[in-house]
Amino acid sequence: MLKHLLLPALLILTLAGCQQGPDRAALEQYASTAMPADTELADIYQRSCQACHSRGSTGAPLTGDEAAWEPRLEQGMDTLLSHVVDGFGGMPPYGLCMDCSASEFEHLIAFMSHYPEAP
Ligand code: HEC
Repeated sequence: MLKHLLLPALLILTLAGCQQGPDRAALEQYASTAMPADTELADIYQRSCQACHSRGSTGAPLTGDEAAWEPRLEQGMDTLLSHVVDGFGGMPPYGLCMDCSASEFEHLIAFMSHYPEAP
């Protein structure tokens, strides 16, 4: 009896796992090298955000880790922007980009909270 329940349960778990996107290793690999396509934005990202958001050990949500970003995005862009500007937890004010505009932060957040579709 139990056996008959176990197999479908396992299948469902496996399928659910697939829908959660990339596995941890793929995610860390992506985060370690990802760059915004726009060169100016890439420059800022490389200078300011990448040091923390490209590796898991800093406590920062990883670039491309949509599951980690989702609850943060739910706060709304205004809150996210004020957290970046004021500093938040382990993140210093302005995420170390003192001359960044709100619109640049917004684009950086959009880039960092997104994992690219498989080609
Ligand atoms: C010195 C490390 C560091 C740098 C540099 C840094 N961050 Fe962060 N960031 C963090 C950490 C740590 C958190 C998580 C803080 C927490 O949840 O306690 C975070 C969280 C965030 C959040 C989510 C805030 C929230 O309300 O949940 C945003 C947005 C963000 N960073 C954007 C940026 C941007 C944009 C840059 C570059 C301009 C940047 N960060 C640079 C460490 C950093």
